[in-house]
Amino acid sequence: MSHRIAVYPGSFDPIHHGHLDIIERCKDLFDEVIVAVLRNEEKKPLFTSQERADMIDELLDRWPNCRVERFSGLLVNFVDEMGACAVVRGLRAVSDFEYEFQMALMNRRLNPRVATLFMMPKEDYSFLSSRTVKEVFSFGANLKGLVPESVLQHLKRRFEDLQEA
Ligand code: PNS
Repeated sequence: MSHRIAVYPGSFDPIHHGHLDIIERCKDLFDEVIVAVLRNEEKKPLFTSQERADMIDELLDRWPNCRVERFSGLLVNFVDEMGACAVVRGLRAVSDFEYEFQMALMNRRLNPRVATLFMMPKEDYSFLSSRTVKEVFSFGANLKGLVPESVLQHLKRRFEDLQEA
């Protein structure tokens, strides 16, 4: 039996419960799941790719067949390097579809061996994105139930640092 590895890529700036829901579903379908954090420091993310990966690493402790890596360059090359057969992406709503469809077809064109699997998070998280998490948090909204407690602490510290700067 072959060892089936999936890559779940994203910016994860920061990771939230919608992402974790997808990882949890994915971990039962594959022998190994690699959460791949995009190194996109030039886009000035709130957290560096190392900080994002460290936050994820802590949260993956509970699932022994999941780990985190950082990547740059083409996703399909990274997938090959990892010996993975699939890319997993979360689809929250129809509005996600156009961009995801384009990306999946381009990735297939670049590397036909890599399949893209779309998974739907729990309905409770279908409105959740890292962008809205950061935006509402910056206005003092309560994120309970939307991001893990550890991520909430990182957000608090980062916004405090930004206010002091
Ligand atoms: O969480 P995001 O920002 O929606 O994730 C986007 C990501 C990281 C999956 C995408 O930008 C990506 O794969 N970037 C790597 C460069 C690449 O391979 N681009 C070709 C896709 S068409």
